[in-house]
Amino acid sequence: MLLGNRPTPFVKGATMSTRTAVVTGASSGIGAATARKLADAGYHVVLTARRADRLEALAKEIGAAGGSAAAYTLDVTDREAVVDFAASLGEVDVLFANAGGAYGADPVATADPADWRAMYEVNVMGVLNCVQALLPKLVASGDGTIAILSSTAGFVTYEGGGGYIAAKHGAHAIAGTLRLELCGQPVRVIEIAPGMVKTDEFAVNRFRGDETAAAARSLSP
Ligand SMILES: NC(=O)c1ccc[n+]([C@@H]2O[C@H](COP(=O)([O-])OP(=O)(O)OC[C@H]3O[C@@H](n4cnc5c(N)ncnc54)[C@H](OP(=O)(O)O)[C@@H]3O)[C@@H](O)[C@H]2O)c1
Repeated sequence: MLLGNRPTPFVKGATMSTRTAVVTGASSGIGAATARKLADAGYHVVLTARRADRLEALAKEIGAAGGSAAAYTLDVTDREAVVDFAASLGEVDVLFANAGGAYGADPVATADPADWRAMYEVNVMGVLNCVQALLPKLVASGDGTIAILSSTAGFVTYEGGGGYIAAKHGAHAIAGTLRLELCGQPVRVIEIAPGMVKTDEFAVNRFRGDETAAAARSLSP
């Protein structure tokens, strides 16, 4: 994987100075898979999410495979905690802003506003919190990369997805705006907009733990 304005700088075991990548939502799915890839590519990976046990297990797995990883328990919607987290880090070269999710599949007419708020908090404010807290370090790296996980739901609409779609349009707006605002600064902004990805938990969370409904899901990502 290429991240930053230059090719991945070294492979495992090489002696160049290590670059650091922060991955949010690293306890499962796309975040965990990306953390493994970044570690394989030689990055020191800082794994963050709310479930400490999963992060610890992944850090151990990466270490056993010869990579370098640290676990940090973090709720990206807790702005103060994100600021403290950023202050605890040394140099940061990559932010993989992946933490997110969909809660509920109700039509706009009857959806629970609490679900909409929760989706906005994690998919939009969570990204904003992490970008703002880590941006000074990414600029200071001289070759920073911010990768924001939106979704095809950031570009289209579908029935039953209103709250998630609204939130992912928000994540898409952050990426596009930030890219323009950082013009001339040494930070590249990447938006990743996956279609349906069969991860273990995403659809289960959307259908509030109903694995049958999750397995049969016909909703878009
Ligand atoms: N799967 C798809 O079809 C699909 C398609 C397009 C886009 N996406 C997007 O890709 C990203 C990853 O999706 P996925 O399929 O890998 O889902 P997933 O397996 O459910 O992973 C979501 C991750 O986000 C973390 N997270 C959730 N709320 C958080 C919070 N408040 N603070 C910190 N971490 C939080 C979860 O960890 P904890 O619970 O431990 O905190 C988990 O590690 C999401 O942004 C999703 O919207 C997914």
